[in-house]
Amino acid sequence: MRTLSYLRHPPSLETGDLSTTLKWYIAGFSERSEIQVALHVPETIGPLPAEYKLVLFRIMQECLTNVHRHSRSPWAAVRLIRKAHSIRLEIADRGKGMDLHSSSDSNVPPGIGILEMRERVKLLHGAFHIDAAPGKGVRVDLNIQ
Ligand SMILES: Nc1ncnc2c1ncn2[C@@H]1O[C@H](COP(=O)(O)OP(=O)(O)OP(=O)(O)O)[C@@H](O)[C@H]1O
Ligand SMILES: [Mg+2]
Repeated sequence: MRTLSYLRHPPSLETGDLSTTLKWYIAGFSERSEIQVALHVPETIGPLPAEYKLVLFRIMQECLTNVHRHSRSPWAAVRLIRKAHSIRLEIADRGKGMDLHSSSDSNVPPGIGILEMRERVKLLHGAFHIDAAPGKGVRVDLNIQ
């Protein structure tokens, strides 16, 4: 239980730099899942409200969990880009992908992960986007001003 809550809400998230927390989480994720993660984050992401850090951290976590559970990809990439007035996060894999345009529930079973990510970004007035196709992997990206 302690390990679980620690993973869900690492103490360094509130006080520390987001880049450091992402690096720490991804190192553990790669070890547990044996998925190789290419991480592109600046050395420091700079000051950011705790609320934003939590949203970005949770989305990265949900996306990597999805890669692990659904994609069968041995590889993922996480990219965090800070611009003067915005922050962008991308998570991509090269796994089995999914059909976003299919109306059939058998292709994309309903989950709350993607809905929740969308909601979290919307609350911060950001943009959320998923790019996916069968056999071509999945790429999730979001932009928050
Ligand atoms: N990286 C991925 N590769 C392939 N399919 C994916 C990927 N991410 C999501 N999916 C598909 O989209 C569906 C919805 O994802 P979502 O995260 O919303 O739900 P979930 O992971 O099934 O359940 P949970 O509510 O626990 O997150 C998944 O069930 C899966 O079929
Ligand atoms: Mg999920």
